[in-house]
Amino acid sequence: MSIKRIGVLTSGGDAPGMNPCVRAVVRTALYHGVECYGIRRGYNGLIHGDVVRLDEKSVAHIINRGGTILYTARSQEFMTEEGQRRAASTCRFLGLDGIIAIGGDGTFRGAEALSRHGINVICIPATIDNDICCTNYSIGFDTAANTAIECIDRLRDTMQSHERCSVVEVMGHNAGYLAIYVGLAIGATAVLVPEKEIDFRNDVIEKIRNARLNGFTHYMIVVAEGAGSATDIAAQIKAEIDLDPRVTVLGHIQRGGCPSGRDRVNATKMGYLAVEMLLVGKTNRIICTREGSFTDVDIQEGLQMSRNIQSIEHDVLCAMTGHS
Ligand code: F6P
Repeated sequence: MSIKRIGVLTSGGDAPGMNPCVRAVVRTALYHGVECYGIRRGYNGLIHGDVVRLDEKSVAHIINRGGTILYTARSQEFMTEEGQRRAASTCRFLGLDGIIAIGGDGTFRGAEALSRHGINVICIPATIDNDICCTNYSIGFDTAANTAIECIDRLRDTMQSHERCSVVEVMGHNAGYLAIYVGLAIGATAVLVPEKEIDFRNDVIEKIRNARLNGFTHYMIVVAEGAGSATDIAAQIKAEIDLDPRVTVLGHIQRGGCPSGRDRVNATKMGYLAVEMLLVGKTNRIICTREGSFTDVDIQEGLQMSRNIQSIEHDVLCAMTGHS
């Protein structure tokens, strides 16, 4: 089948780097003489025909912008068979020969449903959580991690001056990848992640005590949102030790901001690859990275994969925490 017109959408939580990815999809499509439509507000846009034709200019000067010019949504309507049928009919009505879906695993499940309705789809991983099992990199993670690191570095300044304990909650949904990465980068006293059962005494109190014994007078505790609330952790610390921790929930701050160089470049490469894949007749695939190179897997296969916190990360964390 020859590809003449394609659609691109962003869905789920936004991630810095979605814009450069959309830009790369549009520019690559145009380079090959393929028309490109932006589908707005994720799968809702496909259901309701909320689309806009994208040309060279519509994606100018977005390479450095956070968020997504296409808007995003977590479409409830698309979860229904009727919503999926309507979305597929919109694709046929508009003559879209393929859809490029940028987002996380919810987005990929949606793409798989579209594929079952006979639509060609290619998925690109974009989530700050980096919790997509078939890839070790997702667009947005690098920027979000750098944002969190910068914020925590600032917090450290004041914690150090007042000799306090800081409990910082980072995003990550049900995964601890962001928390571990950030915890390693800021030299956390302790890091709590959902993948590891928490032994509060050992994992928090002993680490603080150990740091104190070593002469440290401020303590930085990083909590993945999936591992518990920073407020509860701070209250528990206060109950067990003579500290009055300050709580910071970084929240959506981590999802905004200019994409980092790494996110821009990878988003651009992935956007390019997605169009090239559609052009050679590939469909129902997720683009992923393994050991530094790009590859792709079947959507269903990719969604069924599992991934653990690597033992190296866990071992390094054990060796590095308990100080400050
Ligand atoms: O998946 C990205 C993410 O930011 C998670 O880290 C977080 O749990 C969730 O989205 C927050 O979703 P919302 O923006 O709908 O509050």
